[in-house]
Amino acid sequence: MATSTPYGIKLAVHLIVNDFGNIVSKVCECLLRRGTLSKALICRFTDLPQDKVKKSLWVLIQHNCVQAFALEQEGGGRDTTVVVTQYMVLFNNIIHRLRFSKFATLATNDLDKEVFEILEGLLQHGRLTLTQILDRALDSHSGGSKDTHRETFIKLVQNRFVERCPAVEPLIALPTDGETPAKKGGGRSKKSKKEVTLEERALAAAIPMDAERFSITSDDGIDSDEEKKEKLSGLKVGEKRKQRKVEWDSELDIMGGKKEPVWRVNFDEFINRLRIKACVEYARAEYDNAAAVILGSMLEGTKRTESEVSLSLDSIFEEVIKSKEGLTMNLERVRSSLEQLDFCSEVDDTYSVNLKDIIQKAQLEEVESIVKKRYGIEAFRMFRSLSNGRPLDTDKISDRTFVDKKITPQILYKLWKDNYIQMEKVTTGGPRQTDFFLWRIKKDNLWHQILDELYHAALNLSLRYVHEVDQDREILNLSAEKAPPEVVKRKERLKKVRILLDSSLMKLDDAIMLFHDFL
Ligand SMILES: *[C@@H]1O[C@H](CO)[C@@H](O)[C@H](O)[C@H]1NC(C)=O
Repeated sequence: MATSTPYGIKLAVHLIVNDFGNIVSKVCECLLRRGTLSKALICRFTDLPQDKVKKSLWVLIQHNCVQAFALEQEGGGRDTTVVVTQYMVLFNNIIHRLRFSKFATLATNDLDKEVFEILEGLLQHGRLTLTQILDRALDSHSGGSKDTHRETFIKLVQNRFVERCPAVEPLIALPTDGETPAKKGGGRSKKSKKEVTLEERALAAAIPMDAERFSITSDDGIDSDEEKKEKLSGLKVGEKRKQRKVEWDSELDIMGGKKEPVWRVNFDEFINRLRIKACVEYARAEYDNAAAVILGSMLEGTKRTESEVSLSLDSIFEEVIKSKEGLTMNLERVRSSLEQLDFCSEVDDTYSVNLKDIIQKAQLEEVESIVKKRYGIEAFRMFRSLSNGRPLDTDKISDRTFVDKKITPQILYKLWKDNYIQMEKVTTGGPRQTDFFLWRIKKDNLWHQILDELYHAALNLSLRYVHEVDQDREILNLSAEKAPPEVVKRKERLKKVRILLDSSLMKLDDAIMLFHDFL
């Protein structure tokens, strides 16, 4: 499960309260704070009755904020097992709720305006069948027939913006003899050097294989040949995953025997594309438009799991001239532009960029700009002199940054007090002992702290936004027509404030993604 921070949890709870009220958020908060639990334990910890907990969990599952799984455990007697349904909260998916408008904009820009209607429906409702999606789109008076909406839906799935929902309640069986749990979970995600948590195993088991995840075939009105193929491959998948047959009464018969597949927005794809866009924007800010166009061409189609992209100069050029801005560039221009990028390396005319490098550079720059805003330009220069992680003493920092020797300790102290830098007192030996201070940046701790501060700021802004909307609602209750001028004025002011708050929140969220979602 993704690590969250104290204010990350507060922000998540706030988002759930806003959309689903107090009871659902109480259940959600319980899971956020205590981790994966069974329903019985949630009831105990929240003091809520069973049926309320159950309904809340349904809401959270419907909106992709909770994933259930059935966990096989040792039973009381010898050789007996029991299966208990567990609920894990999906912190990232809750925070994604902040970004729904960003997601919708991205898809309409990358594809076309028509996709908005269908995406909006899925974002609002969490999960829908194709029938529901089409009915909703037809009801929306946006124009378009059932067929055009279906085509749009297919386009969304083909572009991986929409996917089949994961299994409602996958079974996590006890490891069979001679099998370690880590091995079992690692089967799907090749790089399983780290210990695989129960939650990661459950998620991996719930998400359909790619072929099924983006396959539309078994929906209504489909060519039967393909359907057969689908069924066949589905069977294979099932066989491969089946560890041992275990019977259990599912706690969650949400599907109610429904056969039609259920669809949802694929957040991974959106985050992946936003990550590529962030890298391209970084190149534009650091270098120029040409660098952005070239990097954009190189990263097109990169998957979220890949961090390194290598391409020959020729194939980069081929991609570059496909774009409108790249059309005017020649091979030499592309080569010289590539050569100036300090996150790009070249061997035998093959150029490689590492997305992780770019994200890390962008993170450092974000932190530096926070330091500059909050503590001033001199603090910024001092912070920068420490940013490679190597410790420096007070005098060296002063020398390197041309900051007055008297002021240097004061600024360092301020940064230290807020935990931006660490301090170590060193006493030199010898007959005449002297003390001096070594300063350094501990990146991991600081990055974590910055993320928490960003969540905190986002929470503040979001609370303020809710407050403004409440005020607006009060005014709306006054009749809209012959409204007196002061009411009209107030309405306009509120609208401006809301737009401003919203755009600040979106910018903050860009920074949150940079630190939390892109690496
Ligand atoms: C959030 O608001 C509280 C109370 O208004 C304030 O004390 C705090 O400094 C704010 N934090 C951030 C990170 O904006």
